[in-house]
Amino acid sequence: MTTSEKPVRSLEAKYYTDPSVFRAEQYGVMANTWQYAGHQSQLKHPGDYFCFEIAGESLFCIQTNEGQTKAYYNVCQHRAHQLLAGEGNTTLVVCPYHAWSYELTGELRAGPNIKSVPGFDKSEICLSEVRIEIFCGFIFANLDPLAKPMNEWFPDVEQELSAFVPQLQDLYAVEWVSVVERCNWKVSVENYSECYHCQLNHPTFSSGIVKAKTYDIQPQGYCLRHTTECQNLDKMSYPIDVNANEFAGHYSSWFLWPMMSFQVYPGNVLNTYHWRPIDHETVMVHRGWFGSSDTDEAILRDLAQQDRNTTVEEDIHIVESVQRGLNSRGYVPGPLVVDPNSGVQSEHSIKALQQWMRESVSIEQPRQS
Ligand code: FES
Ligand SMILES: [Fe+2]
Repeated sequence: MTTSEKPVRSLEAKYYTDPSVFRAEQYGVMANTWQYAGHQSQLKHPGDYFCFEIAGESLFCIQTNEGQTKAYYNVCQHRAHQLLAGEGNTTLVVCPYHAWSYELTGELRAGPNIKSVPGFDKSEICLSEVRIEIFCGFIFANLDPLAKPMNEWFPDVEQELSAFVPQLQDLYAVEWVSVVERCNWKVSVENYSECYHCQLNHPTFSSGIVKAKTYDIQPQGYCLRHTTECQNLDKMSYPIDVNANEFAGHYSSWFLWPMMSFQVYPGNVLNTYHWRPIDHETVMVHRGWFGSSDTDEAILRDLAQQDRNTTVEEDIHIVESVQRGLNSRGYVPGPLVVDPNSGVQSEHSIKALQQWMRESVSIEQPRQS
């Protein structure tokens, strides 16, 4: 290192505390990136649907009669009433306001008295479609119709995840754990993306699941790939058959910028994180635990509960304290601990993440007077 080289400093507090940054993100990074929508197991039959939210927009996914998965903005093309709520099955999408009805493929089918309107061309009216991709059985949506495909954003992830989870195409959600964190979504995502804090704050994760000393995180396109050695089998906090397949004794995680992560725990246990920001200082964190026909659901539920009571609980206190600190007049963004050799005691992953955060919103510099 030359003497003129200065450590990279953490992001300025306003990125996490200023409501105008959050509004800019709703039209920027939240609207032009791939976001978790749901899982293909939620759409088994034609007409099955579920609603979800991205960037403050209500959307829904539905299966057509031909077995295609589609996503639409949840808004009627008459006078804007919302169409669907929750999840369910329907043969047509019928608006609750004036009963206009839409095919599952989005075209307007009928509406009371519309034929009496001179020049009314039914074929011009269609639900607004949203771009989706099915990635390893998970449905992702992107409000940007021109977005690059997920394989370009996240190179090799599909192949790696398929190798780590042999039962990938057969999964369904066994358990969901959702918590509110009173912090900006980026505080929570950053906390997820380094393990510099693990040994001090996550004793169960560091001693009962992974060997924290071997933890490392490296960028892979817009993915942050976490790798580590697993804990000795006699110290594992739940039973696994390490010989079941090639990756049964491994742990890895793939964080997909900006708000989703796949984690595979030893035993090929796939679990997910996805973040849904509520406002500039509140985020919902959703943990999904996925199993297949071979899964012992009771063990998986116990593991989800153990995780809720340990890692998740421990992180809530950390991120909420950080948010309070970011609001302090006394905070000056500190240098990141970027070790040129990476490793668990390094914040090189935060450096990459904060660069993406900077690029995703341009904040005007305060005027010099
Ligand atoms: S707003 Fe939907 S039918 Fe009128
Ligand atoms: Fe943590």
